[in-house]
Amino acid sequence: MTLGKPLTKAVIPAAGLGTRFLPATKAMPKEMLPVVDQPAIQYVVEEAVNAGLSDLLMITGRQKRALEDHFDREPNLERALEAKGDFDRLEAVQHASGLGPLHFVRQGDPKGLGHAVLCARQHVGDEPFAVLLGDDLIDERDQLLRSMIEVQARTGGSVVALIEVDPAQISAYGCADVSAVDGEDHVRVNGLVEKPSVADAPSNLAVIGRYVLHPAVFDVLEDTPPGRGGEIKLTDALQTLATSDGEGGGVYGVIFKGRRYDTGDKLSYLKAVISIASERVDFGEDLKTWMKAFVS
Ligand code: G1P
Repeated sequence: MTLGKPLTKAVIPAAGLGTRFLPATKAMPKEMLPVVDQPAIQYVVEEAVNAGLSDLLMITGRQKRALEDHFDREPNLERALEAKGDFDRLEAVQHASGLGPLHFVRQGDPKGLGHAVLCARQHVGDEPFAVLLGDDLIDERDQLLRSMIEVQARTGGSVVALIEVDPAQISAYGCADVSAVDGEDHVRVNGLVEKPSVADAPSNLAVIGRYVLHPAVFDVLEDTPPGRGGEIKLTDALQTLATSDGEGGGVYGVIFKGRRYDTGDKLSYLKAVISIASERVDFGEDLKTWMKAFVS
């Protein structure tokens, strides 16, 4: 592995079926659901680019062509906007295709997040890389990914992002057992368990959808047997790495206290849209005034 080389690769799994949003996602990828006026996935791609990642790989599947189209040029539309003198919208349209280069690989079988990450093996090769899950949007002011990349470089292991949740909600997440590291902001992850029952959860620290992984994870994923539902779990592979002291062993956590918007289920999605919309300079104040009147 090349040491000291800046991390440039991001893997964005986007092959999920989006069943929670049916029928909206019957013919449209869930990643294309709009959050105000841009699809959710664009926030994630922008976050990766803003964190300095320049080589982006999206893991897609059947019925996901809209993702490729969204990040591609659209000459007819661009010409039409130009002819109308609509330069703001032209810039918005061109911005999405200027975020790349984006690469795509298809996950033929929906065999879980671990399998999706494994689909990136050939593209990533033998370097640390970031994984960004589309259901979590991280406010660009909060720079979570950059601090995770720094921790990966310092520790040489893999890094997960953790948030404190209400203990009753831990069963929706991977859960981490951690201990403090002297003189550091990050924690050491002693163990991880995927979606534990409230009674079995080792903590209220939940794994959210940002990871910076050592490439050792690929060999571990190859050897990770499918768990519940026939899926290869990334959490299971990280559990193995957490207790390994070989090359690329060790898992660390960055406890995130910034702004995160979950778009993974209907209620959270609506809250995310409203939170982000209410911060818009062009109509945020109007929206808040309307909301106050609406709730009273
Ligand atoms: C996945 C991971 C889980 C993590 C979550 C974060 O679960 O398996 O450990 O807490 O993402 O969003 P999913 O939400 O895909 O079921």
